[in-house]
Parts: sequence; C-alpha cells; structure tokens
Amino acid sequence: MIQFVVEDRTGDRQPVEVPGGIGLNLMEVLKASDYTIQATCGGMALCATCHVQVLEGHDNLPPVSDAELDILDTLPTAHPDSRLACQLRVEECMEGALFRIASEEP
Ligand code: FES
Repeated sequence: MIQFVVEDRTGDRQPVEVPGGIGLNLMEVLKASDYTIQATCGGMALCATCHVQVLEGHDNLPPVSDAELDILDTLPTAHPDSRLACQLRVEECMEGALFRIASEEP
C-alpha cells in the first residue's frame, strides 16, 4: 500500500491509501476518492484543473516534464511546489507525501 495525505480546498486533511502497482495517476486516484477535480482534458496536461501543491515529499517525485511546466507557467496560482496531478503516476515515491488540491472549485 502507498499512503499519502490529501488536503482539500477547505484545509481538511485525509489519508489516502492506494495499492502499489495499479498504474493510475494522482488525478484519477483523487477523483476515485471523491475529490472534486474537473480534469477537463482527461489527463493530457492541457487544462490545469488537476493542479496540486506538494507540501511534503516534493523532492521524491519524478521531475516536471516540459509539457507540465508549460501549463504550470500559465497558472497565476502556481507555486514552486506545484504539479499537475494527472502527470504523477502513483508509485512508492509518493509514500508520506502531502498534496493540497490547488485548483479552483469546478
Ligand atoms: S487533467 Fe488536465 S492537466 Fe491534468
């Protein structure tokens, strides 16, 4: 099991457990966990509605791709620890991370 914590838009934090090796990205897991994420582009790194801030564990994640960076650069609300959840495959490297859902309420 991979375990991390998600902070929703109200500041409420809940642990999320995901079986290892399921091959989903973080956006898909958040949606499956009933968080409201629009994900209009379906995970193509185009819409930025899956924007999360990685408050803990940022350095353990794979580097940002050029496509992801291009989109993050267009976001006025982006932080140095911002990522697109759809570009993050849920893997061991997320163990213990803390993600804040940063996108606007759909
Ligand atoms: S779902 Fe559109 S950028 Fe992630």
